[in-house]
Amino acid sequence: MAGGLVLLFLLLVGTGRCWELPAFHCNLYNSCECGFRPDLNALDCDLSRNVFGQHLAREQLVKALKVFVATDRPSKPLVLSFHGWSGTGKTFVSSLLVKHLYRDGNRSPYVHRFSPILHFPHAQNVNQYKEDLKQWIQGNLTACSRSMFLFEEMDKMHPGLIDVIAPFLGSSWVVFGSNYKKAIFVFVSNSGGEAINNVALNFWRGHKDREEIQLSDVVPAITKAVVADQEHGFWQSEIIEQNLIDVIVPFLPLRPNHVRYCVRSELEQMGLASEEDLVHSVTDSLVYFPEDERVFSSTGCKTVAFRINYYL
Ligand SMILES: *[C@@H]1O[C@H](CO)[C@@H](O)[C@H](O)[C@H]1NC(C)=O
Repeated sequence: MAGGLVLLFLLLVGTGRCWELPAFHCNLYNSCECGFRPDLNALDCDLSRNVFGQHLAREQLVKALKVFVATDRPSKPLVLSFHGWSGTGKTFVSSLLVKHLYRDGNRSPYVHRFSPILHFPHAQNVNQYKEDLKQWIQGNLTACSRSMFLFEEMDKMHPGLIDVIAPFLGSSWVVFGSNYKKAIFVFVSNSGGEAINNVALNFWRGHKDREEIQLSDVVPAITKAVVADQEHGFWQSEIIEQNLIDVIVPFLPLRPNHVRYCVRSELEQMGLASEEDLVHSVTDSLVYFPEDERVFSSTGCKTVAFRINYYL
């Protein structure tokens, strides 16, 4: 019996996966409240195991979500804004959010993604897009207050467009038949990435641990960069002026040791053994900046999968 338990324990540990509760059995047919099944312990576990070098993002997200899901009557929708250099994990983290907040994960009908290139490609149609976007948000919120809206590449969104959703982000709007304050909005962009990189570089040069970087070290610089960017979807936006964003989630640039983790994890997913030679070659082949010191990866973990194929 004891041996069996030890074996079970070893199996659980040995798989290297996060321990997740079995899916909650839901009997409210097709209800959206039913589709919203936050498991924040699993989220935290997944973030700490599979997202490398992002202590701020992990802390901020878990903290904000704990507060938000603890009540049935939030005072306003949860509005998150992800910032950071490319390849630092923003898209991956957004997919983990969806996975651990919704029963059906990325297939959930209550999760809506918008990409400027896909949904709003032509600047001359911006008035039409405004109409569409407003209708979509309103329609989806009426169908389900526990909806999540993800806006990718905000730095490529036509300025002015996003303001049509500003009323949905505040605390005093009325959406007929729906408590829209239960919704979650996530904005993702690379802007502020350079400012974050500079802070991280200064910490590195000062021989300080990256885990010592605090939110207050990066947020003012991120806000400044976003406000100054005339191409950004938030240019002169009410969303910024009315402080509708609840949490700025910064993603730090990645060190070579984080890239090594990415390579190993990618190899594991491909079903291959992590041969140290290969891990080393791939990690070493990336471009690092500043050029002479080679501190951070210029593309984060983005090109890792491609490079593995190249070295194989
Ligand atoms: C919900 O949003 C999607 C876009 O993601 C849109 O196609 C759909 O029509 C919306 N649903 C409603 C009921 O408005």
